[in-house]
Amino acid sequence: MASPSSAPLRVLTGITPSGTPHLGNYVGSIRHSVRQSVAPGVESFFFLADYHALIKVQDPAVIQRSTLEIAASWLACGLDPERVTFYRQSDIAAIPELTWFLTCVTGKGVLNRAHAYKAQLDKNIAKGEDPDADVTAGLFMYPVLMGADILMFNAHKVPVGRDQVQHIEMARDMAQRFNHQYGEHFTLPEAEIDDAVATLPGLDGRKMSKSYGNTIPLFASRAYLQKQIASIVTDSRAPGEPKETEGSALFQIYQAFADADETEMLRKAYADGIGWGDAKQLLFERIEVEVAPLRKRYEALMSDPVEIERILLIGAEKASALSQPFMTRLRHAVGLRNLAAGRDKGNAKAAKVAKPSFKQYRERADGLFYFKLLDARGETLLQSRGFASPQEAGRTIALLQTERGAALATLAAQLEPIDTEQSRAVTEALEALAEATTTTDGS
Ligand code: TRP
Repeated sequence: MASPSSAPLRVLTGITPSGTPHLGNYVGSIRHSVRQSVAPGVESFFFLADYHALIKVQDPAVIQRSTLEIAASWLACGLDPERVTFYRQSDIAAIPELTWFLTCVTGKGVLNRAHAYKAQLDKNIAKGEDPDADVTAGLFMYPVLMGADILMFNAHKVPVGRDQVQHIEMARDMAQRFNHQYGEHFTLPEAEIDDAVATLPGLDGRKMSKSYGNTIPLFASRAYLQKQIASIVTDSRAPGEPKETEGSALFQIYQAFADADETEMLRKAYADGIGWGDAKQLLFERIEVEVAPLRKRYEALMSDPVEIERILLIGAEKASALSQPFMTRLRHAVGLRNLAAGRDKGNAKAAKVAKPSFKQYRERADGLFYFKLLDARGETLLQSRGFASPQEAGRTIALLQTERGAALATLAAQLEPIDTEQSRAVTEALEALAEATTTTDGS
Protein backbone atom coordinates (compact mmCIF):
# COMPACT_ATOMS: atom_id res chain seq x y z
CA MET A 1 0.00 0.00 0.00
CA ALA A 2 1.44 3.39 -0.95
CA SER A 3 2.31 5.38 2.14
CA PRO A 4 1.14 8.95 2.57
CA SER A 5 3.98 11.44 2.16
CA SER A 6 4.09 12.18 5.89
CA ALA A 7 4.98 8.57 6.66
CA PRO A 8 8.66 7.99 7.36
CA LEU A 9 10.87 6.96 4.50
CA ARG A 10 11.72 3.30 4.90
CA VAL A 11 15.31 2.48 4.06
CA LEU A 12 16.48 -1.12 4.05
CA THR A 13 20.09 -2.29 4.00
CA GLY A 14 21.30 -5.87 3.87
CA ILE A 15 24.79 -7.36 3.95
CA THR A 16 25.56 -10.97 3.12
CA PRO A 17 27.70 -12.49 5.89
CA SER A 18 30.13 -14.35 3.71
CA GLY A 19 33.42 -12.80 4.83
CA THR A 20 35.19 -10.31 7.05
CA PRO A 21 34.24 -6.64 6.54
CA HIS A 22 36.99 -4.59 4.89
CA LEU A 23 37.70 -0.90 4.44
CA GLY A 24 35.84 -0.96 1.12
CA ASN A 25 32.64 -2.14 2.84
CA TYR A 26 33.11 0.54 5.47
CA VAL A 27 33.60 3.42 3.05
CA GLY A 28 31.14 2.14 0.44
CA SER A 29 28.27 1.10 2.68
CA ILE A 30 28.56 0.82 6.45
CA ARG A 31 29.66 4.37 7.25
CA HIS A 32 27.08 5.98 5.00
CA SER A 33 24.14 3.79 5.99
CA VAL A 34 24.78 4.23 9.71
CA ARG A 35 24.84 8.01 9.25
CA GLN A 36 21.68 7.94 7.22
CA SER A 37 19.90 5.85 9.84
CA VAL A 38 19.89 8.75 12.29
CA ALA A 39 18.42 11.23 9.79
CA PRO A 40 15.01 12.55 10.81
CA GLY A 41 12.02 11.08 8.97
CA VAL A 42 13.88 7.89 8.14
CA GLU A 43 12.89 4.47 9.41
CA SER A 44 15.79 2.08 8.89
CA PHE A 45 15.99 -1.66 8.58
CA PHE A 46 19.39 -3.34 8.78
CA PHE A 47 19.77 -7.05 8.40
CA LEU A 48 22.29 -9.83 7.98
CA ALA A 49 21.35 -11.73 4.83
CA ASP A 50 22.42 -15.13 6.09
CA TYR A 51 20.10 -17.09 3.79
CA HIS A 52 21.91 -15.36 0.95
CA ALA A 53 25.26 -16.42 2.41
CA LEU A 54 24.29 -20.09 1.95
CA ILE A 55 24.40 -19.54 -1.80
CA LYS A 56 28.16 -18.98 -1.82
CA VAL A 57 29.47 -20.31 1.48
CA GLN A 58 29.19 -23.97 2.41
CA ASP A 59 31.31 -23.81 5.55
CA PRO A 60 28.97 -23.44 8.56
CA ALA A 61 31.74 -22.00 10.76
CA VAL A 62 32.40 -19.25 8.23
CA ILE A 63 28.72 -18.31 8.13
CA GLN A 64 28.50 -18.12 11.90
CA ARG A 65 31.75 -16.20 12.26
CA SER A 66 30.95 -13.76 9.50
CA THR A 67 27.46 -13.10 10.85
CA LEU A 68 28.99 -12.24 14.21
CA GLU A 69 31.69 -10.06 12.64
CA ILE A 70 29.30 -8.08 10.49
CA ALA A 71 26.81 -7.59 13.31
CA ALA A 72 29.65 -6.40 15.58
CA SER A 73 30.97 -4.11 12.82
CA TRP A 74 27.65 -2.38 12.33
CA LEU A 75 27.21 -1.89 16.06
CA ALA A 76 30.79 -0.70 16.50
CA CYS A 77 30.26 1.83 13.71
CA GLY A 78 27.38 3.35 15.62
CA LEU A 79 24.26 1.54 14.52
CA ASP A 80 21.72 2.06 17.29
CA PRO A 81 19.50 -1.03 17.62
CA GLU A 82 16.99 0.97 19.69
CA ARG A 83 16.52 3.36 16.86
CA VAL A 84 16.57 1.04 13.85
CA THR A 85 15.27 -2.46 13.25
CA PHE A 86 18.38 -4.62 13.27
CA TYR A 87 17.84 -8.33 12.60
CA ARG A 88 19.03 -11.50 11.00
CA GLN A 89 17.19 -12.61 7.88
CA SER A 90 16.86 -16.24 9.00
CA ASP A 91 15.01 -15.16 12.16
CA ILE A 92 12.13 -13.89 10.08
CA ALA A 93 10.02 -16.95 9.43
CA ALA A 94 7.93 -15.21 6.79
CA ILE A 95 10.86 -14.50 4.45
CA PRO A 96 11.02 -17.97 2.85
CA GLU A 97 7.25 -18.00 2.58
CA LEU A 98 7.16 -14.66 0.82
CA THR A 99 9.99 -15.86 -1.39
CA TRP A 100 7.69 -18.61 -2.59
CA PHE A 101 4.80 -16.22 -3.27
CA LEU A 102 7.13 -14.03 -5.30
CA THR A 103 8.61 -17.03 -7.09
CA CYS A 104 5.13 -17.68 -8.41
CA VAL A 105 4.80 -14.23 -9.95
CA THR A 106 8.34 -14.00 -11.34
CA GLY A 107 9.01 -14.95 -14.93
CA LYS A 108 11.76 -17.51 -15.34
CA GLY A 109 13.00 -15.45 -18.25
CA VAL A 110 13.52 -12.48 -15.94
CA LEU A 111 15.76 -14.57 -13.68
CA ASN A 112 17.65 -15.89 -16.71
CA ARG A 113 18.89 -12.34 -17.21
CA ALA A 114 20.18 -11.79 -13.64
CA HIS A 115 23.85 -10.75 -13.76
CA ALA A 116 25.25 -13.11 -11.12
CA TYR A 117 23.65 -16.13 -12.72
CA LYS A 118 24.52 -15.05 -16.24
CA ALA A 119 28.14 -14.42 -15.32
CA GLN A 120 28.47 -18.01 -14.14
CA LEU A 121 26.79 -19.25 -17.30
CA ASP A 122 29.07 -17.19 -19.55
CA LYS A 123 32.10 -18.47 -17.69
CA ASN A 124 31.00 -22.07 -18.21
CA ILE A 125 30.29 -21.51 -21.89
CA ALA A 126 33.69 -19.86 -22.40
CA LYS A 127 35.33 -22.89 -20.84
CA GLY A 128 33.32 -25.17 -23.11
CA GLU A 129 31.51 -26.73 -20.17
CA ASP A 130 27.85 -27.41 -19.62
CA PRO A 131 26.28 -23.94 -19.21
CA ASP A 132 24.70 -24.92 -15.90
CA ALA A 133 27.83 -26.47 -14.40
CA ASP A 134 28.14 -25.43 -10.72
CA VAL A 135 24.97 -23.36 -10.93
CA THR A 136 22.67 -24.09 -8.00
CA ALA A 137 19.00 -23.24 -8.04
CA GLY A 138 19.91 -21.02 -5.08
CA LEU A 139 22.05 -18.81 -7.29
CA PHE A 140 19.27 -18.69 -9.85
CA MET A 141 16.70 -17.72 -7.19
CA TYR A 142 18.93 -15.17 -5.46
CA PRO A 143 16.99 -12.14 -6.78
CA VAL A 144 13.67 -13.54 -5.55
CA LEU A 145 14.96 -14.01 -2.02
CA MET A 146 16.27 -10.48 -2.19
CA GLY A 147 12.87 -9.29 -3.43
CA ALA A 148 11.26 -10.89 -0.37
CA ASP A 149 13.72 -9.06 1.93
CA ILE A 150 12.75 -5.74 0.45
CA LEU A 151 9.02 -6.18 -0.11
CA MET A 152 8.40 -7.77 3.29
CA PHE A 153 9.01 -4.42 4.96
CA ASN A 154 7.68 -2.23 2.16
CA ALA A 155 10.98 -0.42 1.86
CA HIS A 156 10.96 2.74 -0.24
CA LYS A 157 14.71 3.03 -0.68
CA VAL A 158 17.41 0.42 -0.86
CA PRO A 159 20.97 1.79 -0.83
CA VAL A 160 23.11 -0.49 -2.97
CA GLY A 161 26.16 -0.61 -5.16
CA ARG A 162 25.68 -0.48 -8.91
CA ASP A 163 26.00 -4.23 -9.19
CA GLN A 164 22.80 -4.64 -7.19
CA VAL A 165 20.59 -2.19 -9.06
CA GLN A 166 19.23 -4.87 -11.32
CA HIS A 167 18.01 -6.82 -8.29
CA ILE A 168 16.07 -3.84 -7.01
CA GLU A 169 14.46 -3.43 -10.41
CA MET A 170 13.48 -7.08 -10.31
CA ALA A 171 11.96 -6.61 -6.84
CA ARG A 172 9.98 -3.70 -8.21
CA ASP A 173 8.77 -5.88 -11.03
CA MET A 174 7.70 -8.61 -8.60
CA ALA A 175 5.81 -6.06 -6.51
CA GLN A 176 4.03 -4.76 -9.59
CA ARG A 177 3.05 -8.18 -10.77
CA PHE A 178 1.81 -9.22 -7.36
CA ASN A 179 -0.14 -6.00 -6.85
CA HIS A 180 -1.68 -6.36 -10.27
CA GLN A 181 -2.79 -9.89 -9.54
CA TYR A 182 -3.84 -9.62 -5.90
CA GLY A 183 -4.42 -5.94 -5.07
CA GLU A 184 -2.19 -3.18 -3.72
CA HIS A 185 -0.04 -4.79 -1.06
CA PHE A 186 3.54 -3.81 -1.87
CA THR A 187 5.37 -0.51 -2.05
CA LEU A 188 7.50 -0.26 -5.18
CA PRO A 189 11.12 0.00 -3.98
CA GLU A 190 13.80 2.17 -5.51
CA ALA A 191 17.54 1.67 -5.57
CA GLU A 192 19.55 4.45 -4.03
CA ILE A 193 23.03 4.85 -5.42
CA ASP A 194 25.03 7.52 -3.73
CA ASP A 195 27.73 8.71 -6.07
CA ALA A 196 29.39 10.57 -3.21
CA VAL A 197 30.09 7.20 -1.65
CA ALA A 198 33.49 6.15 -2.81
CA THR A 199 34.39 2.87 -4.42
CA LEU A 200 37.65 2.14 -2.71
CA PRO A 201 40.61 0.75 -4.62
CA GLY A 202 42.35 -2.22 -3.03
CA LEU A 203 46.01 -2.98 -2.44
CA ASP A 204 46.62 -3.61 -6.15
CA GLY A 205 44.66 -0.59 -7.39
CA ARG A 206 41.66 -2.57 -8.62
CA LYS A 207 38.33 -2.15 -6.78
CA MET A 208 38.72 -3.44 -3.21
CA SER A 209 36.88 -6.72 -3.24
CA LYS A 210 37.10 -10.08 -1.56
CA SER A 211 37.08 -11.77 -4.95
CA TYR A 212 40.31 -9.98 -5.95
CA GLY A 213 42.02 -10.79 -2.66
CA ASN A 214 43.16 -7.17 -2.36
CA THR A 215 41.27 -6.07 0.75
CA ILE A 216 42.33 -4.37 3.96
CA PRO A 217 40.26 -5.70 6.86
CA LEU A 218 38.31 -2.97 8.66
CA PHE A 219 39.21 -4.14 12.14
CA ALA A 220 42.59 -5.76 11.84
CA SER A 221 45.10 -4.81 14.52
CA ARG A 222 46.94 -1.51 14.28
CA ALA A 223 50.15 -3.30 13.36
CA TYR A 224 48.47 -5.34 10.63
CA LEU A 225 46.78 -2.24 9.23
CA GLN A 226 50.16 -0.55 8.97
CA LYS A 227 51.66 -3.59 7.28
CA GLN A 228 48.81 -3.79 4.77
CA ILE A 229 49.07 -0.12 3.93
CA ALA A 230 52.79 -0.55 3.34
CA SER A 231 51.93 -3.09 0.63
CA ILE A 232 49.69 -0.77 -1.44
CA VAL A 233 51.11 -0.58 -4.96
CA THR A 234 52.79 2.67 -5.97
CA ASP A 235 55.02 3.60 -8.86
CA SER A 236 58.81 3.67 -8.64
CA ARG A 237 59.31 7.41 -8.28
CA ALA A 238 61.90 8.30 -5.67
CA PRO A 239 61.46 10.79 -2.81
CA GLY A 240 61.80 14.31 -4.16
CA GLU A 241 60.20 13.46 -7.51
CA PRO A 242 56.66 14.87 -7.97
CA LYS A 243 53.95 12.17 -7.85
CA GLU A 244 50.68 11.75 -9.77
CA THR A 245 47.49 11.74 -7.70
CA GLU A 246 45.58 10.51 -10.74
CA GLY A 247 45.35 6.72 -10.58
CA SER A 248 47.10 6.56 -7.19
CA ALA A 249 45.28 4.00 -5.01
CA LEU A 250 46.97 5.46 -1.96
CA PHE A 251 45.63 8.92 -2.76
CA GLN A 252 42.11 7.65 -3.38
CA ILE A 253 41.99 5.73 -0.14
CA TYR A 254 43.24 8.79 1.71
CA GLN A 255 40.58 10.92 0.08
CA ALA A 256 37.84 8.54 1.25
CA PHE A 257 38.80 9.26 4.86
CA ALA A 258 39.99 12.85 4.70
CA ASP A 259 38.13 16.15 4.46
CA ALA A 260 38.72 18.59 1.60
CA ASP A 261 41.56 20.46 3.35
CA GLU A 262 43.44 17.30 4.25
CA THR A 263 43.05 16.03 0.71
CA GLU A 264 44.44 19.30 -0.63
CA MET A 265 47.38 18.99 1.73
CA LEU A 266 48.22 15.53 0.38
CA ARG A 267 47.77 16.70 -3.20
CA LYS A 268 50.36 19.37 -2.54
CA ALA A 269 52.68 16.90 -0.84
CA TYR A 270 52.45 14.69 -3.95
CA ALA A 271 53.40 17.66 -6.14
CA ASP A 272 56.27 18.48 -3.78
CA GLY A 273 57.67 14.98 -4.10
CA ILE A 274 56.70 13.30 -0.81
CA GLY A 275 58.32 9.86 -0.51
CA TRP A 276 55.98 6.86 -0.75
CA GLY A 277 56.96 5.71 2.73
CA ASP A 278 55.92 9.05 4.22
CA ALA A 279 52.71 9.12 2.21
CA LYS A 280 51.85 5.67 3.51
CA GLN A 281 52.49 6.81 7.05
CA LEU A 282 50.08 9.76 6.54
CA LEU A 283 47.44 7.40 5.20
CA PHE A 284 47.91 5.00 8.08
CA GLU A 285 47.55 7.76 10.64
CA ARG A 286 44.50 9.22 8.95
CA ILE A 287 42.67 5.88 8.86
CA GLU A 288 43.75 5.10 12.39
CA VAL A 289 42.19 8.33 13.73
CA GLU A 290 38.81 7.22 12.44
CA VAL A 291 39.06 3.49 12.97
CA ALA A 292 40.85 3.15 16.33
CA PRO A 293 37.85 4.10 18.50
CA LEU A 294 35.59 1.85 16.42
CA ARG A 295 38.09 -1.01 16.72
CA LYS A 296 37.96 -0.76 20.48
CA ARG A 297 34.20 -1.14 20.48
CA TYR A 298 34.41 -3.91 17.90
CA GLU A 299 36.79 -5.92 20.05
CA ALA A 300 34.54 -5.54 23.08
CA LEU A 301 31.52 -6.67 21.07
CA MET A 302 33.34 -9.63 19.53
CA SER A 303 34.22 -10.88 22.97
CA ASP A 304 30.55 -10.85 23.96
CA PRO A 305 28.55 -12.84 21.37
CA VAL A 306 25.82 -13.44 23.94
CA GLU A 307 25.06 -9.74 23.88
CA ILE A 308 24.98 -9.62 20.09
CA GLU A 309 22.66 -12.61 19.97
CA ARG A 310 20.41 -10.86 22.47
CA ILE A 311 20.32 -7.68 20.38
CA LEU A 312 19.51 -9.63 17.23
CA LEU A 313 16.67 -11.51 18.89
CA ILE A 314 15.11 -8.27 20.06
CA GLY A 315 15.42 -7.01 16.49
CA ALA A 316 13.80 -10.19 15.21
CA GLU A 317 10.83 -9.57 17.47
CA LYS A 318 10.50 -6.03 16.27
CA ALA A 319 10.68 -7.09 12.64
CA SER A 320 8.31 -10.00 13.14
CA ALA A 321 5.71 -7.72 14.67
CA LEU A 322 5.50 -6.25 11.16
CA SER A 323 6.16 -9.31 9.01
CA GLN A 324 3.78 -11.72 10.72
CA PRO A 325 0.57 -9.72 10.30
CA PHE A 326 1.67 -8.67 6.84
CA MET A 327 2.20 -12.30 5.88
CA THR A 328 -1.26 -13.18 7.18
CA ARG A 329 -2.63 -10.46 4.97
CA LEU A 330 -0.70 -11.78 1.96
CA ARG A 331 -1.80 -15.36 2.64
CA HIS A 332 -5.34 -14.15 2.64
CA ALA A 333 -4.77 -12.16 -0.54
CA VAL A 334 -3.54 -15.15 -2.51
CA GLY A 335 -6.24 -17.47 -1.19
CA LEU A 336 -4.47 -19.42 1.55
CA ARG A 337 -7.33 -18.91 3.95
CA ASN A 338 -9.20 -20.23 6.90
CA LEU A 339 -11.89 -22.28 5.19
CA ALA A 340 -14.53 -21.55 7.81
CA ALA A 341 -14.13 -17.78 7.63
CA GLY A 342 -13.26 -17.34 3.99
CA ARG A 343 -15.67 -15.86 1.54
CA ASP A 344 -14.10 -14.83 -1.69
CA LYS A 345 -14.97 -11.92 -3.91
CA GLY A 346 -16.94 -14.01 -6.30
CA ASN A 347 -19.34 -14.74 -3.50
CA ALA A 348 -20.40 -11.33 -2.27
CA LYS A 349 -23.80 -12.50 -1.09
CA ALA A 350 -22.26 -15.06 1.17
CA ALA A 351 -19.94 -12.38 2.49
CA LYS A 352 -22.97 -10.31 3.48
CA VAL A 353 -24.54 -13.22 5.24
CA ALA A 354 -21.59 -14.01 7.45
CA LYS A 355 -18.66 -11.74 8.09
CA PRO A 356 -16.74 -10.58 11.12
CA SER A 357 -18.02 -7.46 12.83
CA PHE A 358 -17.22 -4.85 15.46
CA LYS A 359 -19.56 -4.37 18.40
CA GLN A 360 -19.36 -1.18 20.48
CA TYR A 361 -20.90 -0.94 23.92
CA ARG A 362 -20.76 0.86 27.26
CA GLU A 363 -20.03 -1.06 30.43
CA ARG A 364 -22.39 -0.23 33.28
CA ALA A 365 -19.91 -1.17 35.96
CA ASP A 366 -17.26 1.44 35.06
CA GLY A 367 -19.10 3.67 32.61
CA LEU A 368 -16.34 3.23 30.02
CA PHE A 369 -16.71 2.52 26.30
CA TYR A 370 -15.56 -0.77 24.83
CA PHE A 371 -15.60 -2.74 21.62
CA LYS A 372 -15.14 -6.33 20.52
CA LEU A 373 -14.28 -7.87 17.21
CA LEU A 374 -16.50 -10.89 16.54
CA ASP A 375 -15.93 -13.58 13.96
CA ALA A 376 -18.58 -14.64 11.46
CA ARG A 377 -20.13 -16.94 14.03
CA GLY A 378 -20.27 -14.28 16.72
CA GLU A 379 -17.32 -15.54 18.78
CA THR A 380 -15.11 -12.87 20.33
CA LEU A 381 -11.73 -12.57 18.64
CA LEU A 382 -10.54 -9.34 20.20
CA GLN A 383 -11.60 -7.42 23.29
CA SER A 384 -10.72 -3.79 23.84
CA ARG A 385 -9.91 -2.11 27.14
CA GLY A 386 -12.14 0.72 28.37
CA PHE A 387 -12.12 4.12 26.59
CA ALA A 388 -13.23 7.40 28.15
CA SER A 389 -15.34 8.30 25.11
CA PRO A 390 -17.11 6.47 22.28
CA GLN A 391 -15.06 8.60 19.83
CA GLU A 392 -11.84 7.14 21.15
CA ALA A 393 -13.19 3.63 20.79
CA GLY A 394 -14.35 4.50 17.27
CA ARG A 395 -10.95 5.87 16.27
CA THR A 396 -9.29 2.69 17.45
CA ILE A 397 -11.72 0.60 15.42
CA ALA A 398 -11.04 2.77 12.37
CA LEU A 399 -7.33 2.22 12.78
CA LEU A 400 -7.84 -1.54 12.93
CA GLN A 401 -10.00 -1.37 9.82
CA THR A 402 -7.45 0.52 7.79
CA GLU A 403 -4.14 -0.78 9.14
CA ARG A 404 -5.47 -4.24 9.99
CA GLY A 405 -2.98 -6.65 11.51
CA ALA A 406 -0.20 -4.08 11.37
CA ALA A 407 -2.08 -1.98 13.95
CA LEU A 408 -2.11 -4.71 16.59
CA ALA A 409 1.37 -3.99 17.91
CA THR A 410 0.82 -0.22 18.19
CA LEU A 411 -2.57 -0.66 19.83
CA ALA A 412 -1.40 -3.27 22.34
CA ALA A 413 -2.10 -0.98 25.31
CA GLN A 414 -5.74 -0.49 24.25
CA LEU A 415 -6.47 -4.18 23.76
CA GLU A 416 -6.69 -7.24 25.96
CA PRO A 417 -3.57 -9.30 25.27
CA ILE A 418 -3.72 -11.98 22.58
CA ASP A 419 -1.20 -14.62 21.61
CA THR A 420 0.32 -15.18 18.16
CA GLU A 421 -2.35 -17.67 17.13
CA GLN A 422 -5.13 -15.29 18.15
CA SER A 423 -3.53 -12.32 16.45
CA ARG A 424 -3.39 -14.36 13.28
CA ALA A 425 -7.13 -15.03 13.54
CA VAL A 426 -7.77 -11.34 14.20
CA THR A 427 -5.69 -10.33 11.20
CA GLU A 428 -7.55 -12.76 8.99
CA ALA A 429 -10.89 -11.47 10.23
CA LEU A 430 -9.83 -7.86 9.58
CA GLU A 431 -8.77 -8.84 6.08
CA ALA A 432 -12.05 -10.63 5.44
CA LEU A 433 -13.93 -7.64 6.77
CA ALA A 434 -12.01 -5.20 4.57
CA GLU A 435 -12.60 -7.37 1.57
CA ALA A 436 -16.31 -7.84 2.25
CA THR A 437 -16.63 -4.06 2.61
CA THR A 438 -14.96 -3.31 -0.74
CA THR A 439 -17.04 -6.01 -2.39
CA THR A 440 -20.32 -4.60 -1.09
CA ASP A 441 -19.24 -1.02 -1.89
CA GLY A 442 -18.48 -2.10 -5.41
CA SER A 443 -21.83 -3.75 -6.04
N1 TRP B 1 22.63 -9.15 -2.19
C1 TRP B 1 23.15 -8.15 -1.31
C2 TRP B 1 24.69 -8.14 -1.40
O1 TRP B 1 25.28 -9.18 -1.64
C3 TRP B 1 22.74 -8.39 0.10
C4 TRP B 1 21.26 -8.36 0.22
C5 TRP B 1 20.43 -9.41 0.39
C6 TRP B 1 20.47 -7.20 0.17
N2 TRP B 1 19.12 -8.98 0.46
C7 TRP B 1 19.12 -7.64 0.31
C8 TRP B 1 20.74 -5.84 0.00
C9 TRP B 1 18.06 -6.73 0.28
C10 TRP B 1 19.69 -4.95 -0.03
C11 TRP B 1 18.36 -5.39 0.10
O2 TRP B 1 25.28 -7.14 -1.20
